[in-house]
This record gives sequence, C-alpha cells and structure tokens, in this order.
Amino acid sequence: MKVTVVGAGNVGATCANVLASREVCNEVVLLDIKEGFAEGKALDIWETSPINLYDTRTVGSTNDYTKTAGSDVVVITSGLPRKPGMSRDDLIATNAGIVKSVTEQIMVHSPDTILIIVSNPLDVMTYCAYLSAGVDSAKVIGMAGILDTARYRSFLAEELNVSPKDIQAVLMGGHGDTMVPLPRYTTVGGIPVTEMISDDKLESIVNRTKKGGGEIVNLLGTSAWYAPGAAAAQMVEAIVKDQRRVFPACVWMQGEYGISDMYLGVPVILGKNGIEKVIELKLNEEEMDLLSQSATAVREVKAILDGMNS
Ligand code: NAI
Ligand code: 2OP
Repeated sequence: MKVTVVGAGNVGATCANVLASREVCNEVVLLDIKEGFAEGKALDIWETSPINLYDTRTVGSTNDYTKTAGSDVVVITSGLPRKPGMSRDDLIATNAGIVKSVTEQIMVHSPDTILIIVSNPLDVMTYCAYLSAGVDSAKVIGMAGILDTARYRSFLAEELNVSPKDIQAVLMGGHGDTMVPLPRYTTVGGIPVTEMISDDKLESIVNRTKKGGGEIVNLLGTSAWYAPGAAAAQMVEAIVKDQRRVFPACVWMQGEYGISDMYLGVPVILGKNGIEKVIELKLNEEEMDLLSQSATAVREVKAILDGMNS
C-alpha cells in the first residue's frame, strides 16, 4: 500500500509520521512545493525508523508527481493555515487554487486513488477537490469530524477524570463554529454522558469544542497539527485496512438529512471503497435545526467558490 501526503508542513508531516510509525502502509510519499522541504521532512521521519522500530519507507518530493504514481490514498494538506483573527473561510481563494491544481496533478498519476482533504475551509475545499477529481464522491472525503470529536472527547475526559478511550461521541455539520456536537449520542463506557455531568458543564464543553480550532490558533499563532495529522492518518488506516470504522467525515450529501449537493460532516462507515455508507441518525427537532444552520453556513462559503468558478 502506498500513501501520498501533499503538503509537508505541520499537518502533513505529522500525518506522514503517524502513518509511518504505525506501519499503516509500505510507503509514504511526502510532497511539497517548497524546494527540498518534503525531502528533509521525509528523511527526518525515515531516520526515526530504527528508533521507533518500523519499516515503512518515507520518501520526499519537491513537486514531482511521478513519485506519487499509484497511490492508494492521498491526503491533501497543502494550503495556508489560519492566523489569529482569521476564520477558516478567509483562506478560500488561495487554498482553492492550491487544492484544484494539486488534485488535478494527483489524479493524472493515481486515477484510482481515494482523496482525503484537510485544507481549509474544509467542507468547501473537499467540494473543490471533488469538482477537480472527476471521480465518484465516495472517493473524495474531508477530514474534520474525527478531529472535532476528539477535541470534544478529550475535554469530556478531562472534566470527568476518566480515560478518553471510554468516551464515544458523534458530531455533525461543517468544520466551523456552527458544528454540532451531539450529547444525546455521547457515552462514557456505555453510560449516557448526561448521567455523568451537569447540563451547564456539558454546554460549556460543547461551546469549547465548537471553538476548539480557534483556541489553538490563539495559543500558537497558527493552527493545530498533532490532532489533525493523527485524525487524517486514522482515516487512511480505516481505508487501507478496510476496517469499516464508524467516524464522522465530510461527505457529498445526496438527500441524507434532507440535504443535497454539498459537502457536510455526517457519521459514515469508512472502508476500502472510501465512504461505504452514510449513517442516518434519527435527529430530534433541535438537533436537526442546528444541522440545518450549519449547512446554511457552509452553503454561504460554497457559493463563494461557485462564484469564483462561474
Ligand atoms: P503549513 O503552512 O504548515 O503547511 C502547508 C504546506 O503546504 C506548506 O509546507 C506549503 O509549502 C505547502 N504548499 C502550499 N502550496 C502547495 C502546493 N501547490 N503544492 C504542494 N504543497 C503546497 O500549514 P498546516 O498547519 O500544515 O495546515 C495545512 C492546511 O490544513 C491549512 O489549510 C489548515 O487550515 C488546514 N487544517 C485543517 C484542519 C482540519 O480539521 N480539516 C486542521 C488543521 C489544519
Ligand atoms: C482546526 O480546527 C484550524 O481547522 C483547523 O484546528
């Protein structure tokens, strides 16, 4: 199995490192436009192999897409990250150009690949890659839900003083402040979370989750990478090992939850064909309203991209 990660910056290099150290595939190609940058990161990761005891080869490439040929999965992280004061949507014009050109070049050399998009604004960049790739939508998937749910789960674990391993949760909607964590579908070792925590505390954790990306941007001056890189690697693993894992992911909506013709975060089964199935939960009225509001916010950003393309 061969996986390419485009963009050898903070998220891309972290993702490549996780893929290699967990032996998710035989080869990881890291590609970046900056001369020598991907080669340097790939070499540094490869030099950890005798220490961390793995044999996945990590290869760097400065914009040479022939090295990516025959990739089973490609993760696209190329693009500008947020700086303090910026929203993810401020990145649209620059990142759309990058995602379009990267996707086109990838598809020339790996026409059967499955694409995982990370670049922001996530839902609309995944749509942009879908338009450029010209393949079945099951093979173009955005990464956000695993990250956002991980933030929610880690905050709950800290508050409840329990292992994060025992917290299961679902989160839906766009990758922005309108995302919809779902307490009704959150459990702690099988126990409904509402039996373990007060309503006030839960509400403040839901709100912190929605602004979780911004919290890191304000602390670091740029956006997060450890959790995003690990989250993208977990999606790759589910696909290359055909694990049929149940995750929230950003997918092309075709009538599910009454939403069509846009990319949005929903729970799915992820396996060797990419999106194997979209899971339709029986949302209550309040949850459905929140999901619709989130879809509206993503549609507004999608309209900017559609306007640029018309
Ligand atoms: P970074 O600036 O550290 O890395 C981006 C890399 O992309 C740079 O090395 C740059 O040279 C490269 N690049 C730019 N244009 C390229 C091109 N045409 N071809 C190949 N490489 C190119 O940024 P970071 O922190 O890694 O973030 C990457 C993207 O991921 C950003 O758009 C960020 O907002 C997004 N992000 C999304 C998350 C999500 O949950 N979906 C979470 C965290 C970040
Ligand atoms: C994050 O959520 C900024 O999308 C990036 O960390």
